[in-house]
Amino acid sequence: MTTTDPHPAATVPPHASRIRTFHPRRGRMSGRQVDALDRLWSAYGLTITDDLAAPVDLAALFGRRAPLVLEIGSGMGDATAAMAAADPDRDYLAVEVHTPGIANLLDLVEGRGLGNVRVARGDALDLVRALPEESLDAVHVFFPDPWPKARHHKRRIIQPAHVALLRSRLVPGGTLHCATDWAEYAEAMRETLTADPGLVDVHGGYAPRPAHRPVTKFERRALTAGRPVFDLVHLKGGAPC
Ligand SMILES: C[S@@+](CC[C@H](N)C(=O)[O-])C[C@H]1O[C@@H](n2cnc3c(N)ncnc32)[C@H](O)[C@@H]1O
Repeated sequence: MTTTDPHPAATVPPHASRIRTFHPRRGRMSGRQVDALDRLWSAYGLTITDDLAAPVDLAALFGRRAPLVLEIGSGMGDATAAMAAADPDRDYLAVEVHTPGIANLLDLVEGRGLGNVRVARGDALDLVRALPEESLDAVHVFFPDPWPKARHHKRRIIQPAHVALLRSRLVPGGTLHCATDWAEYAEAMRETLTADPGLVDVHGGYAPRPAHRPVTKFERRALTAGRPVFDLVHLKGGAPC
C-alpha cells in the first residue's frame, strides 16, 4: 500500500497495546432495541475481531464510495444519526462497544431511513487498524471516557500513538474533531494534537463550537453542571486528494 503521508504511523506496531479505552459495561436493552439488533444487524452491522480482514472493503460495506466519517464511541447514537441525516453525501461509520447503544443507533437508522450509516461493534482501535490508509474524510471523538485518575491516563483514546494511527487513515486535509467537557483532558488533548507532526491546528487552540455537532446528554449534563465544553479541530496536513 502506498502513502503520501510524510509522517506515517508505521512506528505504531499492530495491536501495540491491549489496554482498553472503555469500561466493560453491561446494559439492559429495551424490547425495541433487542428487536432492532435482531432485524437490522445483518444489513448495517460490522463485527470487529482481532483478525478483521484488512483492509475493510468500504465500498462493499456502504454499497457506494462517498467521503467517510468515523464516529468513535457513538454512545446511544443520537449524534451520529442526526449528523448523518443532515449530511447525506457522506457516509458515517459508527463504532461502539456498548450493545444497547449500538441497538439504539440501528433503531434510529431505520426510523429515519438513513442509508449512509453503518455500525461497527468492538474496539475502535482494532477497526481503525483494519481501515485503508487515507480512507477517512473525518474522525469524530466526542466526549470520550475521560479516565480522570492519573494511573488511568494510559486508557485515554487521545494519546500520541492513537493520534498517529487515526491521522494515517485520514485523507490529506481530513479532519480530526474531538470534544470533551473534562478540562484537564482537553488540555492533554490539545498538547497531544498540537505535538503531532502531521496535524495542523486550524484554530490555534480550542475551536468555536461547530453548529453541526449535535448536543448529546454528555454536553447537556456538563452545561447543567456549569462545565464548559472544549472542541478541538485539527486537519491532516497536505493537499486534499
Ligand atoms: C462518554 S461516552 C460518549 C458517547 C457519545 N460520543 C456522546 O457524545 O454521547 C464514550 C463512549 O465511547 C465508547 N468507547 C470508548 N472506547 C472505545 C473504543 N475503543 N471502541 C469503541 N467504543 C469505545 C464507550 O463505550 C462509550 O459509549
